[in-house]
Amino acid sequence: MKAKLNINKNEIISKIDRRIYGSFIEHLGRAVYGGIYEPTHDSADELGFRGDVLELVRNLKVPIVRYPGGNFVSGYNWEDGIGDKSKRPRKLDLAWLSVETNEVGIDDFQAWAKRANTDVMMAVNLGTRGPDEARALIEYCNGETNTYYANLRRENGYEEPFGFKLWCLGNEMDGDWQICHKTAEEYARVATETAKVLRWVDPSIELVACGSSDHHMPTYGEWESTVLEHTYDYIDYLSLHCYYGNYKGTPDFLARAEDMDRFIKETASICDKERARRNSDKVINLSFDEWNIWYRTKDEEKTAPRWLVAPPLLEEKFNFEDALLAGCMLITLQNNSDRVKIACLAQLVNVIAPIMTENGGVAWKQTIFYPYMYASLFGNGVALSTKAEVDAYTSAEGWNVPYLCSSTIFDEENGRLVIFAVNRSLDDKIELDVSLKGLEGYTLAEHIELYCDDLKATNSKEEQRVAPRKKEISCGSSISLEKHSWNMLVFERNS
Ligand code: AHR
Repeated sequence: MKAKLNINKNEIISKIDRRIYGSFIEHLGRAVYGGIYEPTHDSADELGFRGDVLELVRNLKVPIVRYPGGNFVSGYNWEDGIGDKSKRPRKLDLAWLSVETNEVGIDDFQAWAKRANTDVMMAVNLGTRGPDEARALIEYCNGETNTYYANLRRENGYEEPFGFKLWCLGNEMDGDWQICHKTAEEYARVATETAKVLRWVDPSIELVACGSSDHHMPTYGEWESTVLEHTYDYIDYLSLHCYYGNYKGTPDFLARAEDMDRFIKETASICDKERARRNSDKVINLSFDEWNIWYRTKDEEKTAPRWLVAPPLLEEKFNFEDALLAGCMLITLQNNSDRVKIACLAQLVNVIAPIMTENGGVAWKQTIFYPYMYASLFGNGVALSTKAEVDAYTSAEGWNVPYLCSSTIFDEENGRLVIFAVNRSLDDKIELDVSLKGLEGYTLAEHIELYCDDLKATNSKEEQRVAPRKKEISCGSSISLEKHSWNMLVFERNS
């Protein structure tokens, strides 16, 4: 099949906010214990953090990591995780029906984040708690005053404030699985009052209010409208979450990125409707702070043995077609970078994650590691709108889905233009013609491909069946994209 991409230097979507390449660590399963933290591990540092995992996280150049949940945060008492480790209480975690030892808490996590070269995106508990706890927490983390909580941090050995800039007002409060789930009105009120106290303590922060935990929630739309009506003047971003499953075959699965695109555009419209209603200059942008593929291990905690410490939960084993969809989802985030300023691949280690570990053993890369890594390393600059001339197929819900899913990121300063492209055809190669306008002197310098003949191939600690490879650059005018493949095309300015 032939396809053409028309790219014009002047057709700018937006500068990419690097925070769209964020991720997420929740106290859930082996994300923390056995994931980032394992004091007895050979590679552990003096704080008990696994060096092998830190190295993989640094390879990904993750700009922000959301913490400590997720559903977990709605029952979390942050005070349990500070001070002398031997005195920290063991508690029941009702979100995941596990035991939380509190060996790792905020102090420890911010130390890990520094070592991982990332920033913390902090979430406050708006389930069992509310504004009172939130004001104490932000004083503890960011306070510079000679007052109780800022002094408590100093007593615990942290003279300098942590300086967390990004705060989530709870998590998925629209879902009845959430500890202390709320109606839109109930959530909107508590989120507003919490936003006020958080900002009074630290006016420099940015705040994210909960949108819907899925596009297909029965309250989607109404929830957003009510939350925005109350919180508009106090927040900066509205959150979106989505996880896709492969239920109707590969073509439909790979089309899920179109659903994500629609979710983003609809939610941005809801924000703009409220903006118009208020005649406000303020734009509420989007934080897609949980996205991934997740279906094999859904609801696992309901049947797994209860009250274990760090049981293996949600350890989704990603295959090659998951990597293709992850690539398409990253492309969708880039193409919506005018509204999506933050996004978190959920999650980072062991729990629906690009990085897996064995307790006491090795760490390795799942298939989705690669599109995520390349997007984070090479997807920096301005996103250009990419006009594609390509055939399309029809998805299960009757949508027209182009075989080629692509984004273009232009970094003028460094003389680099990068095209991310997924060929969604299961049968045909795409012979791609790229037309560059206003970009004279740019030529193809590198072609990285992720391809595996077997769509169901997975990686393991023994074998990386799905791994990128550098393709030969041919002298011909078109670029060949293998059937069902992810590709990164790097064009460089000739000096
Ligand atoms: O990422 C796993 C869970 O998915 C999170 O805890 C929750 O917010 C979402 O439902």
